[in-house]
Amino acid sequence: MDEKLIEEAAEALRSGRLVALPTETVYGLGANALDPEAVARVFEAKGRPRFDPLIVHVANRSAARALAAAWPEAAERLARAFWPGPLTLVLPKGPRIPDLVTAGLPSVALRVPDHPLTLEVLRRAGVPVAAPSANRFGGVSPTSAEHVRAELGEAVDVVVDGGPCRTGVESTVVSLLEDPPRLLRPGGLTVEELEEQVGELLPPPPTAPDDPGGRASPGMLSRHYATRTPLVLAVDERQALSQAEGRRAGLLQVLGPAPAGFAVVEALSPDGDLVEAAAGLFAAMRRLDEAGLELIVARLPPERGLGRAIADRLRRAAAR
Ligand code: TXA
Ligand code: MG
Repeated sequence: MDEKLIEEAAEALRSGRLVALPTETVYGLGANALDPEAVARVFEAKGRPRFDPLIVHVANRSAARALAAAWPEAAERLARAFWPGPLTLVLPKGPRIPDLVTAGLPSVALRVPDHPLTLEVLRRAGVPVAAPSANRFGGVSPTSAEHVRAELGEAVDVVVDGGPCRTGVESTVVSLLEDPPRLLRPGGLTVEELEEQVGELLPPPPTAPDDPGGRASPGMLSRHYATRTPLVLAVDERQALSQAEGRRAGLLQVLGPAPAGFAVVEALSPDGDLVEAAAGLFAAMRRLDEAGLELIVARLPPERGLGRAIADRLRRAAAR
């Protein structure tokens, strides 16, 4: 591990500066969660509205527990089973977390990310780190240090390069404010895995396009993960081809081999592996966005395992 970089990142966090951190899901733009001025800089760097709360990252379960006002049985179970890992738990907020972090909500989102560099930075910094994905608001999340530099550049004080992200889609967000727990955002931990631990989850609340604040499900904005190039969805090959008709179109094929007839093709997993597809999703969306296309056509994967998170991100990218 790069000792000097880890120490530099930890020191930057302690002194209120912004640090881009690798996680297993996507890169985060981190700030000391206990320092409202530092947190304000995160919102500014991303162009993120203040009504959208941040996830607080900590090094272990006991650090998470210390930030929550309650720690139900399901929290203990899920944290033991899946942390460090791509799971975020929403719990009643303890008094140490500033209101800016949670957008004034009485709850806080907590997670222990699974990346050795970032876990070490968190331990050394000794403070919880509020970190949204390190992209401009509404855009595609970064899965490499180059993505972060290209998108946020000067706004970040330190970039910790931990290589490409293994999981490639953001953490699954689960609210423990209700019993049974409610799925708020499908992500890198599958619903099937979660339900093995806590039984059937309540479904995500519907996103109201005219409720940008989304008080019911903050942050679940319908338009998100957007490419600048218009992106449309296709359920099968025939629909994909007819969407592309007469235009310089690119195809984002999630599973299986891609048909002919597109100017550019990104096939995420020709062998049909959803894990591989998720890991490559955002980088492929960025490449297609840079290919000078009039249109991106994305094929939806089946809604099982990581297919749920992939389909969710593609639907949001396509929302107008
Ligand atoms: O994988 C991830 O979760 C990445 C990495 C960096 O950890 N982070 C991430 O952060 O995706 P962000 O800010 O892009 O998404 C955070 C999500 C949003 O949907 C937000 O609304 C939700 O978590 N969230 C945060 N606090 C919440 C709360 N108190 N109640 C409900 N949802 C909350
Ligand atoms: Mg994000």
